[in-house]
Amino acid sequence: MKDLRFGVVGLGLRVNLAEAAHRPGRGSVVAAVCDTDPETLKREAARFGDPVTSPDHRDLLGRDDLDAIIVLTPDDTHESIAVECLQAGKPLYLEKPLAITVEGCDAVLRAARDTGTRLYVGHNMRHMGVVRLMRDIIRRGDIGEPKTVWVRHFVGYGGDYYFKDWHADRTRTTGLLLQKAAHDLDVVHWLAGGYTTRVNAFGDLMVYGGLPRREPGTPRPDGWPRDHTWPPTAHRDLHHVVDVEDVSVMNMVLDNGVIAAYQQCHFTPDYVRNYTVIGTEGRLENFGDGPGATVKVWNTGPTGYRPDADITYRVPDATGSHGGADTRIIEEFARFAREGGPVDTSPVAARMSVAAGYMATRSLRDGGAPYDVPPLDPSLVAYFADDRR
Ligand SMILES: NC(=O)c1ccc[n+]([C@@H]2O[C@H](COP(=O)([O-])OP(=O)(O)OC[C@H]3O[C@@H](n4cnc5c(N)ncnc54)[C@H](O)[C@@H]3O)[C@@H](O)[C@H]2O)c1
Repeated sequence: MKDLRFGVVGLGLRVNLAEAAHRPGRGSVVAAVCDTDPETLKREAARFGDPVTSPDHRDLLGRDDLDAIIVLTPDDTHESIAVECLQAGKPLYLEKPLAITVEGCDAVLRAARDTGTRLYVGHNMRHMGVVRLMRDIIRRGDIGEPKTVWVRHFVGYGGDYYFKDWHADRTRTTGLLLQKAAHDLDVVHWLAGGYTTRVNAFGDLMVYGGLPRREPGTPRPDGWPRDHTWPPTAHRDLHHVVDVEDVSVMNMVLDNGVIAAYQQCHFTPDYVRNYTVIGTEGRLENFGDGPGATVKVWNTGPTGYRPDADITYRVPDATGSHGGADTRIIEEFARFAREGGPVDTSPVAARMSVAAGYMATRSLRDGGAPYDVPPLDPSLVAYFADDRR
């Protein structure tokens, strides 16, 4: 089988996904790269041998020697670049979030439907060992029917990764309850087997709003992203616009009656996600979220707290970025780009996670008022239900 030839657009921090996709002789190669920043383009192209280079993604779209496009650009560019890729008929890997508005998501889904081009949205958490382990436990029925899901998201490094560039500007992301939480809202939907229909949320910019910022147009500080700042109040070089929340808490009602909650903080010392799912016959909780972490299940009782639980599962070992998820998701995308067929991610689910985060952000900026999540056009739901797409 010949290697699939990818064009990659956007070579910033997420270039590690392009590296996972560059496997000469083993299924796929990065054959062309694009970045609007000339220095980044020159420096990062060298990782891939001697690829075609361009500062304009449109130069990649007309090339017959590219089989698919991988888009790794900032969130606010996803909608327009994705629509152009789909219109060019190139199977597309689009990083999460699908877009930064509900309308933007729907425009991308319509473009995929209208052109018949394959669309894959990069929700790599569905390929993380800890998430797959929790999903397997639930699917086997070990905790009965899931009824409530609570997620605590401790974003250590928050000041470094989310407040030193475009992430901190709500015109470029909507907010971190969409930008960052889209991952976990998707996982909540996947674990619970439903989509959010109603939300409310509270949030605030508590720490990073009052700290010194850089001048517009200045690059992220030297040493980024290797060097980290502690305590959070010591940051002196934040993005020139900081108007997203650094704490947010969100409640959800899903279409199958499940009730869920998600909490995010960007000035905590450690980085970890903690999920609890309670079903009609038990509860699970993860301790750590990478390879070697554990998921515990309590399904006898009632008793006082038992740290040893009833069953403890270990998250399997894996190598590569995001606990091995990036390697697995690119393999899945390569197969999908070649031949279609069922995959573990879903454009509809990607839209529903953005829609939940978007409406929750509106709620938290409106005093916590509840909002309904707009349903997706049923004709789009039906189109993507056919898993050849
Ligand atoms: N799935 C994950 O685990 C994960 C992890 C990190 C980031 N992401 C997502 O990946 C995307 C990229 O994030 P990042 O942290 O790498 O951002 P980044 O700012 O580090 O890099 C973005 C790169 O895109 C380039 N760029 C901007 N506009 C462009 C355009 N129109 N055409 C070509 N290049 C352009 C920039 O010059 C920059 O080099 C975002 O959507 C982010 O949400 C996903």
